[in-house]
Amino acid sequence: MCGIVGYIGTKEKRDFLIHGLKELEYRGYDSAGIAVLKEGEISSFKATGKLSNLDHKTENFSSSGFGLGIGHTRWATHGKPTEANAHPHWGEFSYIIHNGIIENYKEIKDELLKEGITFLSQTDTEVAVHLFEKNVRELGDCFKAFEKTIASLHGAYAILLITKKAPDVIFFAKNAVPLLLGRSPEHEVYFSSSDAPLIGHVNEVVYLEDGEYGWVEKNAITLIKNNTKQHLDFKPLTHDKLSAQKDGYRYFMEKEIYEQSIVVGETLMGRIKENTIVLDELSHIDFSAIDAIKICACGTSYHAALSACYMFERLSKIRTNVEIASEFRYKEPLLDPKTLFIVISQSGETADTLEALKMAKRGGMPTLAICNVDNSSIVRTADATILTRAGIEKGVASTKAFATQVITLWLLSLYVAQIKECIAPERLNEEISALLKIPLVLKVNEQTHEKIRRLSKRYLHGHGFFFIGRDLFYPLALEGALKLKEISYLHAEGYPAGEMKHGPIALADSELFTIALMPKNLLYDKMKSNVEELGARDSTLLIISPEPFDLADDFIKTNAHTHMMGEFFEMMLITQLLALEISIRLGNDVDMPRNLAKSVTVE
Ligand code: F6R
Repeated sequence: MCGIVGYIGTKEKRDFLIHGLKELEYRGYDSAGIAVLKEGEISSFKATGKLSNLDHKTENFSSSGFGLGIGHTRWATHGKPTEANAHPHWGEFSYIIHNGIIENYKEIKDELLKEGITFLSQTDTEVAVHLFEKNVRELGDCFKAFEKTIASLHGAYAILLITKKAPDVIFFAKNAVPLLLGRSPEHEVYFSSSDAPLIGHVNEVVYLEDGEYGWVEKNAITLIKNNTKQHLDFKPLTHDKLSAQKDGYRYFMEKEIYEQSIVVGETLMGRIKENTIVLDELSHIDFSAIDAIKICACGTSYHAALSACYMFERLSKIRTNVEIASEFRYKEPLLDPKTLFIVISQSGETADTLEALKMAKRGGMPTLAICNVDNSSIVRTADATILTRAGIEKGVASTKAFATQVITLWLLSLYVAQIKECIAPERLNEEISALLKIPLVLKVNEQTHEKIRRLSKRYLHGHGFFFIGRDLFYPLALEGALKLKEISYLHAEGYPAGEMKHGPIALADSELFTIALMPKNLLYDKMKSNVEELGARDSTLLIISPEPFDLADDFIKTNAHTHMMGEFFEMMLITQLLALEISIRLGNDVDMPRNLAKSVTVE
């Protein structure tokens, strides 16, 4: 949700700001803006819509020589996506950019309005710059004024502020949303919401902690928390820039679907040795003291969690339940220290998931994060972490992150079963050999992709899609429906096949598209009856199965697998490609669907 970048040094400011924002555009693309302060003067530009608009607007602007720059790409929370609401926001002599939500902005705004201050936007952010300037006027000192301003703000914020009153300084503050500070070999300082914009510019970074703030001057960085100066804990930045390029694919989402075969191999790497699951990351969790599992997550990660619920009960014989993080937080949940609390998150920054994790920790529960981003807030908060190793995921619609999450959860359920000695060695061997086949299952077959491309033209209308499945294929149906709706804007629901007759079947007619997940290894006959019921009511049926089906209007044949998880991952691939091709035919921007953002750091 919103991305921010900043730079202090002698290089061309515009280039870093625009390229940095390009890397963060997936976080929000309602508008973008930059401000550059050089020789006491501030130049600022804003544009609504995609970053390319700002890029064009600033193409004749250049600013080398010592100076400061800040940039922002916005996902609107307060106020419409207009130019007035785009960041930076300014007062008389200062400019600010902000990611997050200032919860007490109304109270602050009312006070400032009473003092005659005029506001140009409807955002929560603008109050912070006016409050800062008021404090500067009262205290006559920018540093004290910034500290006082930050102390008045409640909520989530990553803030960068520049001011003509201290023209060689970038002020920064971080609470509950990510902010990194990076240092180049020449000791120039960069800021960013994630590490991607910093790759190639800096060799070491500090992942700022909640409640930290400070300022960067020409030759010094000051970091403060609780009124005490902090040591700067620089860590090397080692990412490979190449992993974030499209490599000839039409969209990042397409590239990431094709990559799944490789990244799942990474997830498995070193975690299976001599027919045993090895998760060294968990060595300090005492499983003998755990009698249940609770999993919290949002969106696609929640669907992975639901699939884990089946695996933990089936394989590890341990009571498991799953909750949507935003629901869990406010229901006054019982927090039992004998329950292992697992959170699942691609970004590691999802606000509701992070807060649920903190609640569980406060309640004395042992906590485990399954996450794709090392050093993210969730990873830093949890007692233990298993990294999913999907690599940078840039498509807003999550694909490879989901695949690696399910693989990790499958590994984990076998690991727990092993520790609890509740799985027979033969069964464990079968599971492991099925696991090892998944990278191959996930290789995209070009003929199947072509078939899906052709089929997709028949699914561009209708009054809705029902993705149906049973057991583990129910979370997969939910995920298939989510993929389709978020990038095609068509209405789609995932449903347990056996539940259709309890209400939704009333919708059935030829304009209702049923996408039926019919694995051969799990409840095939039960699924068959449910699909027949829909066919009898004239729903258009797209069957995904290894077995041909008489009533099918369309049929995508899957391979014969001996294990249901082989079927699971092949069907996952097919539903992802179907959503992709439908969205492309509808002319949508697959990687940046409307109204969405990649990392949801607001509640
Ligand atoms: C959908 C999607 C979202 C995320 C959700 C949680 O394709 O990507 O539903 O899964 O916002 O995000 P993470 O996993 O980063 O916590």
